[in-house]
Amino acid sequence: MRRLILLLLTFTSLAYAVANPSLLINNISNRTTISLDGSWQAIIDPYETGLNARFYLNAKVKDKHELLEYDFDKSDVLNVPGDWNLQKKELFFYEGPVWYKKSFSYRKREHTRVFIHFGAANYYTRVYLNGEALGEHEGGFTPFNFEVTDKIHEGDNFVVAEVNNARRRDAVPSVSTDWWNYGGLTRDVNLVEVPESFIQDYFVQLAKGSSNEISGWVQLGSAAAQQVTVEISEAAIRQTVTTDATGRAEFRFPAKLDLWSPDHPKLYDVVLSSGSDKIHETIGFRTIETRGTQILLNGKPVFLRGISLHEEAPLSGGRASTQKDAETLLGWAHELGCNFVRLTHYPHSENMTRLADRMGLMVWSEIPVYWDIDWENPATLQNADSQLHEMIARDHNRASVVFWSLSNETPVKSARLTFLHQLADRARQLDSTRLITSAMNHVDETGPDTRVLNDALGEYLDVLGLNEYLGWYRGLPEDADRMQWKFGWDKPVIVSEFGAGAPYGRHGASDERWTEECQANLYQHQIAMLKKIPALAGMSPWVLMDFHSPRRLLPGTQDYFNRKGLVSNHGEHKQAFYVLQKYYQEMDSTK
Ligand code: GCU
Repeated sequence: MRRLILLLLTFTSLAYAVANPSLLINNISNRTTISLDGSWQAIIDPYETGLNARFYLNAKVKDKHELLEYDFDKSDVLNVPGDWNLQKKELFFYEGPVWYKKSFSYRKREHTRVFIHFGAANYYTRVYLNGEALGEHEGGFTPFNFEVTDKIHEGDNFVVAEVNNARRRDAVPSVSTDWWNYGGLTRDVNLVEVPESFIQDYFVQLAKGSSNEISGWVQLGSAAAQQVTVEISEAAIRQTVTTDATGRAEFRFPAKLDLWSPDHPKLYDVVLSSGSDKIHETIGFRTIETRGTQILLNGKPVFLRGISLHEEAPLSGGRASTQKDAETLLGWAHELGCNFVRLTHYPHSENMTRLADRMGLMVWSEIPVYWDIDWENPATLQNADSQLHEMIARDHNRASVVFWSLSNETPVKSARLTFLHQLADRARQLDSTRLITSAMNHVDETGPDTRVLNDALGEYLDVLGLNEYLGWYRGLPEDADRMQWKFGWDKPVIVSEFGAGAPYGRHGASDERWTEECQANLYQHQIAMLKKIPALAGMSPWVLMDFHSPRRLLPGTQDYFNRKGLVSNHGEHKQAFYVLQKYYQEMDSTK
């Protein structure tokens, strides 16, 4: 009997558990695509009935005897891309499975492979096409795709995606975050058509430590030895390489290039072609490295005038996904006088990083290894590793992205150190040209006015991120005036978070919590304190805009919003916005 149950379980799990996503196709926006965005039928399935009931078959009652207890076409609709929480009042707090279905018609083309690509889906997603399982993906903020060449029909098709944002202890992030757990197909869904032999991914950047040599690789979507040409006509570059039997080729060649920087965000049209495939990519070339406590951009010391932000849609709320959202958010950062943005605590949409390329904003990109997670669980490490891999694979050609961040405010313990050490090695293996960092918040108090960041994690980082909330969670804003900061390493420091909460329009004394005056006062004292830190190479105060959080419950003040924004969720600029803007403008004018 026991063996039978085991077998059944294995069988049923086999029926559901299928392949992982295929290798990520890079640069979807410059490929032939058919958008599946728009309204999808959706079944809210709190008890996940749909798995056993096989909702993925999208069945229809055939006769009056048949029992079927779901019908997509009679179900409600949800817009894609978008979270479900802000689309339906009754789903605001909903965490669990939702089944999405989209019917579409398709015309097959000769010598063409077809993939279905998801920009992101939070959190655990199972995808089916015409009732057949394609695969599963874990992680709410990175892209994935499945090949459907042999499964897509001429004419009518339907895709079903079960998206489940239930929080789990062993997940990444784990069960507690200070941001809203927006669920759904939160970024674009596309069919992608490519030739039988196509360019799947490529890495075209300046060689580490060089400003006049390009080094990179190209990976074909099939294991074939084939010629690939890399062309940058504006720089009179045309290089041809031949892939090996696995479809991969590496290259390195001299290049005389105009370098990308915030003051001069120069981008080149890079064309990669192979066989009948040809893809345009827009790439800036710059070097980023450290020297002692300095960060060098194109060999020159640079101070990172930054701000942290969540991927929350301005004005409407919910998960930001549109170009317009990106323009509004990065527009405010630009207005602040920033040359740097910390995109927290998960990879934001490709719209953001490509816009940052064009606007000349350096980017800190982070995976959601946030607070305490299941450090000793190999599946959790595998999950974090694959999110890291997907983050790097999507944005490794973005000049704006200068930091890969492994984590935020994680507890000091040995299992965590081992976990993050492995991720640091992995990140360097995947991309040796960018700086590895993490936001840390555990400091030693070696005196009433002395704090030392000595977290062992610092050993594995190129740049130390420090989150400190002096004057908000601890002490008074004025305490900053006496505070001395010391660091366990001779490495650049970015104060990746400090801040105070204030609903827009709440006014009063500068020592009265929750007033704009208090927030502005804290910024004054923080800026004065940070100026005295010799190793300070940048900062990204917390936070650009007020954002939804399930942990912020003070009625009339928070109302499920973290109010540490310099801009309200309605776009209103608080006093502290101008305190920081003044400091950044002064800094920019004196450099
Ligand atoms: C933390 C954390 C943020 C959080 C912020 C806050 O440091 O990194 O995610 O929102 O502090 O408390 O407001």
